[in-house]
Amino acid sequence: MNILIIGSGAREYSIALSLLNDSRLSHIYFCPGNGATSELGENIDIKDNKDIVVFCINNKIDLVVIGPEQPLCDGLSDELRNNNIRVFGPSKRAAMLEGSKIFMKNILKKYEIPTARFIEGNNKENLFSFIDSIESSKIVLKADGLCGGKGVIIAQNKDEAKSTLNDILNGKLFGEAGKQVVVEEFLDGYELSVFAICDGSDFIILPVAQDHKRLLDNDLGPNTGGMGAYSPTPLCNDKLLQDIKDSIIKPTLDAMKSENAEFSGVLFCGIMVVDNKPFVLEFNVRFGDPECEVILPLLKTPLLDILNASIDKKLANFTYEILQKYCVGVVVASQHYPFKSSPKEEITYSNINFLSNQISHISFAGVSRDNDRLYADGGRVFVAIGIGDSLSEAKNNAYNLTKNISFKGMIMRKDISNKAL
Ligand code: AMP
Ligand code: GLY
Repeated sequence: MNILIIGSGAREYSIALSLLNDSRLSHIYFCPGNGATSELGENIDIKDNKDIVVFCINNKIDLVVIGPEQPLCDGLSDELRNNNIRVFGPSKRAAMLEGSKIFMKNILKKYEIPTARFIEGNNKENLFSFIDSIESSKIVLKADGLCGGKGVIIAQNKDEAKSTLNDILNGKLFGEAGKQVVVEEFLDGYELSVFAICDGSDFIILPVAQDHKRLLDNDLGPNTGGMGAYSPTPLCNDKLLQDIKDSIIKPTLDAMKSENAEFSGVLFCGIMVVDNKPFVLEFNVRFGDPECEVILPLLKTPLLDILNASIDKKLANFTYEILQKYCVGVVVASQHYPFKSSPKEEITYSNINFLSNQISHISFAGVSRDNDRLYADGGRVFVAIGIGDSLSEAKNNAYNLTKNISFKGMIMRKDISNKAL
């Protein structure tokens, strides 16, 4: 079969690696892909949804997997479905769980799903009086719309919250995406990334991961797209996971059904655990990046079977197997990430496995190719993924891998997975 993967990051590279050794696969396309995905398949560059449909028909695409949130929020999956093309990813309406924080918070409130207490809108007087009523000293401000993962500000006190809110509402900080906001109380706990593959009614859970959002070791420095992840995490035991399924995932799928926005695809629940109780921080409607890169290698059941069961609404009786292994992913980024772009630098390497996710490997993101040379040409450049029988072995394997591949100015955290060790 022919598969088209939408996206250009390490997430999409890793999805392809998981599908690559499946004997059912004949050809894999990436739109737009990156300088390394062109070694796994063929990159195409089509921007318009209607043109993607035409490409799928002309090239007999059997399945489209949509990696990032923007095309989902733009309705690419609806366009494909309307043309009878199989697609893994939620509808535009269901993607509002990520596309609009106000939509998402109101679903949680209406169906009594645990989340931080909040207020929404653009009425400054109401927002300010809510801020005054909050008991936590820190206050969380969120732009309603998509901001590439950067639309959240944690104010350290009420005055800072109010002045930052002014800057958001007048468009200074987030432009149009911040014309409406969510203000909520700060939850103090630890975070988990929980991924449910859903078919509208039923779901299966993948191994639970933990992201490392801050730039520097010990969770210092600014927020980034994610500097590393590991899975499974011992910070989520069976009882907590059952609670997350019963009090968050199942009620959310039921709620979306009642709202005529049936959810199929990946529901990524950003969870804060406070006193052993899970609260929803956010939903994403796609795989997390870099979490995806450390979860997919743990699947024993072929990824293609999982995607098909979701599309065909067969998850209720679906059995799947997970390897008893650990996976640690260390993001290697360019010198000036996440502040500004960095000069393009050649990547040199030796003794690196590029073609299988069954052993420690590299997953590429911000890279370009010139003849046979690979260049660091983006913020997050690649992820070194270590696999092992224990978390510490996986961590060692990931960091050992980073010694075999380099470019000028590369940066990485040295403490990925330490929280669990
Ligand atoms: P979000 O995009 O909503 O997940 O927010 C990005 C990050 O901000 C989360 O991963 C948390 O680290 C932090 N965050 C968001 N909401 C809250 C909250 N209510 N309390 C504490 N931290 C939060
Ligand atoms: N790792 C967080 C995200 O993909 O948004």
